[in-house]
Amino acid sequence: MGVKVACIGAGTVGASWASLFAWRGCDVAVYDPFPEALNRAEASIARTVSTLSEIFSGSEDDVKSALSRVKFTENLEEALKGAYYVQESAVEKLEVKRDLFEKMDAIAEPETILATSTSGLSISEIQTAARKHPERCITAHPYNPPHLIPLVEVVPRKQTDESCTEKTVEFMERMGKKPIVVKKDVPGMVANRLAAALWREAVNLVYQGIATPEEIDVAVKYGPGIRWAITGVYLTYHLGGGQGGMKYFLEFFDDHYRRLWSDLANWSEYPEGSFDAILKSMEGYDIIKRMSYDELAKWRDDQLAKILKLILEDG
Ligand SMILES: NC(=O)c1ccc[n+]([C@@H]2O[C@H](COP(=O)([O-])OP(=O)(O)OC[C@H]3O[C@@H](n4cnc5c(N)ncnc54)[C@H](O)[C@@H]3O)[C@@H](O)[C@H]2O)c1
Repeated sequence: MGVKVACIGAGTVGASWASLFAWRGCDVAVYDPFPEALNRAEASIARTVSTLSEIFSGSEDDVKSALSRVKFTENLEEALKGAYYVQESAVEKLEVKRDLFEKMDAIAEPETILATSTSGLSISEIQTAARKHPERCITAHPYNPPHLIPLVEVVPRKQTDESCTEKTVEFMERMGKKPIVVKKDVPGMVANRLAAALWREAVNLVYQGIATPEEIDVAVKYGPGIRWAITGVYLTYHLGGGQGGMKYFLEFFDDHYRRLWSDLANWSEYPEGSFDAILKSMEGYDIIKRMSYDELAKWRDDQLAKILKLILEDG
């Protein structure tokens, strides 16, 4: 798969994308206007490509050849030359992204796909800066870190050509990602909206003194979280309906959800005093007391790699 990909912005997300693309056989140009960002990215890509090699049982040669495919540059034109696909992951500022899209649109060949990693900005606001070819602009939002977490949310907007959406989905699948196309440009797309709904109730449970953060994490990790990783939400409840499937589930649990939903938090800003309540109860979180931040992050990535292997093998 020798296509060229340009990663624009070499921070946390840009470097992680670059590792994935290189690991999957692409020639990757990593661009950032700040040399120190490129240096940091180079070190981080070396680490993350090794992680990918461990997960996918690669060899030392695989790591070497993936790393040899990555080039670093402070020159945008050089980065975009001959690129099939561009993944922009610069700072989350509308004016920076608009400026980049205007420049990239002027430099890149007309058929090059220009995708943004943005979490919170709308592709409709960004793509109007690409005056020549707005139809090749799209959001391809990763879940961090993109070299490990398969989900990518693809969001086309009014001006995006259907073929751009199709090519983006197809390219992401070739990169081993699990893309979904989000039909409307809404804040948080799909995954972060779901996560935000759960987070509000998690805050509420601590605020009301019903459970500690550690207990809530135990409830998620050893309860629904295990099923969510395998059957998501809808398939979980379809199975919950027994032989009658989703129809039975909807009808039988109708009253149950009515009572539950009327009791859940529905505020749209943190209630007064909730920060203090959360921070106070986090003090008792055992693993945070025992491990440093770096130890925790490494432990999380090791565990993530094991789960990922299982899920990816299952298709
Ligand atoms: N961090 C996350 O969890 C996460 C998850 C999904 C999506 N995203 C999105 O990814 C993008 C990058 O986020 P991040 O966390 O990697 O940020 P970051 O701050 O780690 O990296 C941003 C990079 O952009 C570079 N940059 C600044 N100005 C630039 C310019 N004009 N041209 C090119 N590069 C420039 C910076 O030097 C830096 O290296 C954002 O749009 C963010 O919304 C982040």
